[in-house]
Amino acid sequence: MHDCGGGSRKFRDTDRASGSLHVAAHKPNFRGFKPTVKNFFVLRTIFPRDGAARRPLHLQSMCTSEPSVAAVDAAITSRRSIRRFLPDPVPRSLIEDILRVASRAPSGTNIQPWQVHVLTDDALRHLSARIVAAFDDPKHVDTHVEDYAYYPREWVSPYLERRRKVGWDLYALLGIAKGDKAAMHAQHRRNFRFFDAPVGFIFTIDRVMEQGSWLDYGMFLQNIMIAARARGLDTCPQAAFTTFHRIIAEVLELPASSQVVCGMSLGLADPNAVENTLHTERAAVDAFTYFHAHAPGGNPETPERDR
Ligand SMILES: Cc1cc2nc3c(=O)[nH]c(=O)nc-3n(C[C@H](O)[C@H](O)[C@H](O)COP(=O)(O)O)c2cc1C
Repeated sequence: MHDCGGGSRKFRDTDRASGSLHVAAHKPNFRGFKPTVKNFFVLRTIFPRDGAARRPLHLQSMCTSEPSVAAVDAAITSRRSIRRFLPDPVPRSLIEDILRVASRAPSGTNIQPWQVHVLTDDALRHLSARIVAAFDDPKHVDTHVEDYAYYPREWVSPYLERRRKVGWDLYALLGIAKGDKAAMHAQHRRNFRFFDAPVGFIFTIDRVMEQGSWLDYGMFLQNIMIAARARGLDTCPQAAFTTFHRIIAEVLELPASSQVVCGMSLGLADPNAVENTLHTERAAVDAFTYFHAHAPGGNPETPERDR
């Protein structure tokens, strides 16, 4: 592992903030929150003038203070997959802070199944070069296959439509026409350069672990992405790396017992990159949520309890 050292001008503030992690955890981070009309209404929604008064008494005690709700929600909802980063290095202490916070993720019986490889500088460039060479080798690229199925083998609705939409939306932003295989290949190749990020993560898991540990792993990964947002950094989780797990295992000298889960880019988002303007959609809560209040055969007239 390499230490990225001092960091650039852009990071000095972040550095100071992250130096006192506890301060960062208690103070909402509204940097980048512009005083636009839209944001006024966002803030009004977060902080309704009479919000506390309107909330039922028995729920008031369950709520943390409103600024922390706003800070946590802002970190979660401002996370997006970023696909072009600035070269500014991320200090090692900041990476360690993020991983320390993320490791508070729950895991069944606290087994903490995650293993993290942090790549920067020459190590990152070396792995990237090895994978890009394999990706660009039409004769042998097909010999590289995932060693676990990330996606369903059979695509059904609505997942297929959602998958297609995000792909075409990204390509449209980048001006990549349908059928332009060379441009698509070039865009996909950017995965393996960690989208120019100064930090690349490769996540591995012990092969003896079962499906439950992969569930735990997802929570850990999400924690990394949220903790990064709280510090003004961005990420892109990347399953693309799993195809080249043999190269990764060789370069990182992984034991045969280790399996590559995915990669992730970490750094400062390039604010001028068109691909970073992609905002993906989500289904409405009532499209995926089923509230159950009545026992089967129960009295449908029973009033629903205040939730
Ligand atoms: C585990 C995982 C793997 C992903 N792999 C890739 C990837 O290899 N390349 C990529 O560009 N995006 C990848 N993504 C990003 C998704 O495309 C993205 O999360 C989704 O389109 C929703 O957009 P958002 O993250 O901006 O909200 C991955 C996301 C997850 C959770």
